[in-house]
Amino acid sequence: MNGLRVLVIGSGGREHAIAWKLAQSPRVSEVLVAPGNAGTAHETKCRNVAVEAENIAGLIELVRSEKIGFTVVGPEGPLALGLVDEFRQHKLRVFGPTKAAAQLEASKAFTKDFLARHRIPTAQYRVFTEAQSACEYITEHGAPIVIKADGLAAGKGVVVALTVTEALDAVREMLSGNKLGAAGARVVIEDFLDGEEASFIVVAAGHDYVPLASAQDHKRIFDGDRGPNTGGMGAYSPAPVVTAEVHARACREVIEPTLKGMMAEGVPFTGFLYAGLMIRKDGAPFVIEFNARLGDPETQPILFRLDSDLLDLLEAAVDGKLKQTTPRWNSKPALGVVMAAEGYPGTVSKGDVISGLDVDFGAAKVFHAGTTQKDGRTLTSGGRVLCVVGSGTDIAAAQGSAYEGVKKISWRGEQHRSDIGWRALTKS
Ligand code: AMP
Ligand code: GLY
Repeated sequence: MNGLRVLVIGSGGREHAIAWKLAQSPRVSEVLVAPGNAGTAHETKCRNVAVEAENIAGLIELVRSEKIGFTVVGPEGPLALGLVDEFRQHKLRVFGPTKAAAQLEASKAFTKDFLARHRIPTAQYRVFTEAQSACEYITEHGAPIVIKADGLAAGKGVVVALTVTEALDAVREMLSGNKLGAAGARVVIEDFLDGEEASFIVVAAGHDYVPLASAQDHKRIFDGDRGPNTGGMGAYSPAPVVTAEVHARACREVIEPTLKGMMAEGVPFTGFLYAGLMIRKDGAPFVIEFNARLGDPETQPILFRLDSDLLDLLEAAVDGKLKQTTPRWNSKPALGVVMAAEGYPGTVSKGDVISGLDVDFGAAKVFHAGTTQKDGRTLTSGGRVLCVVGSGTDIAAAQGSAYEGVKKISWRGEQHRSDIGWRALTKS
């Protein structure tokens, strides 16, 4: 077939969804996924290649030998390592932020300082490197208070402490106990923000941007949003908390000054810019964090709702034509439920045989994350294993469809939440 060959870098549920959506483009002949998972191995027009996401030299070699015309980077790791800079130096077309721009995710201290410089709403904060002064600050300030390790800590670097004791323990562990290695050598301590969270993601290129459909995820492991934080146990799109007014404020008060600020500082941002927002009761958005990539599992329901061509959108960003592009969204909400391995978010069991994947899922879609293929069987290979996405005329119907799918799949020790979407359901 005559068409474009594209490469998706990564191996999670987000990357399965990106690859699945790119493969639907009539202009795409094949999607290579490096390294991919058992889901991308079987996806129409997709092929896995055994090159790790952070092996930049290997990926450049792959792009050359497979004549790939466009690359999309899924996870933050290769972005923080400067993959995009190196691809550009080799004149290879790639969608994602440079190493300098990706600091918006990679360094919380950089981001908090940036937000303050540009007067973008966020919680008040202080940065500490010594446990002693951090503890004094906490005792003075009181709880609730939020402690964050600087650097990439895979979502595990944040403690929302409801008591002073909890906060002191967290700081001591991060700064003295060295629980998180180098990522914990600096901590950011910030005020607790009250409100409802939403994931507001845009495709950005310099000053220009196109918002994606809004989404909300559930970060805690247990029903009722209790227990430890995870990368996300489920998500849905749209997020009812993002009303037209909140959407407009998020664009005006967060996205635009951020992109403008990055331009002014000489680090234009091209890529997915993910603003994790806390929406206060009066509709005011505050930045909790930025990610320099799509969210996982938000991507799965978001892309499920994208009716237009994803390649057109991402190429427009790289070619400076974002202003002429308007993505079309399906009006039906979509909801994804994460099925996780035993032990997640701690040490997980791997290598368990997954059953039920070969049945008919109807309009629902199973996106793979931590899976691998062995002797014709699909095995678990990570914490978050699958994300089952359903859609429907409303959130309740989308939830019903997703859980219908979840019921068909099982493995030893499998765990999932049974209340994904509850917040949205209380609103409707
Ligand atoms: P982060 O890794 O910065 O996104 O933080 C992880 C989670 O901790 C967020 O999704 C929030 O649920 C919570 N969180 C972070 N910062 C704050 C804050 N300042 N106030 C309240 N909750 C927060
Ligand atoms: N689901 C949150 C994230 O991708 O960071």
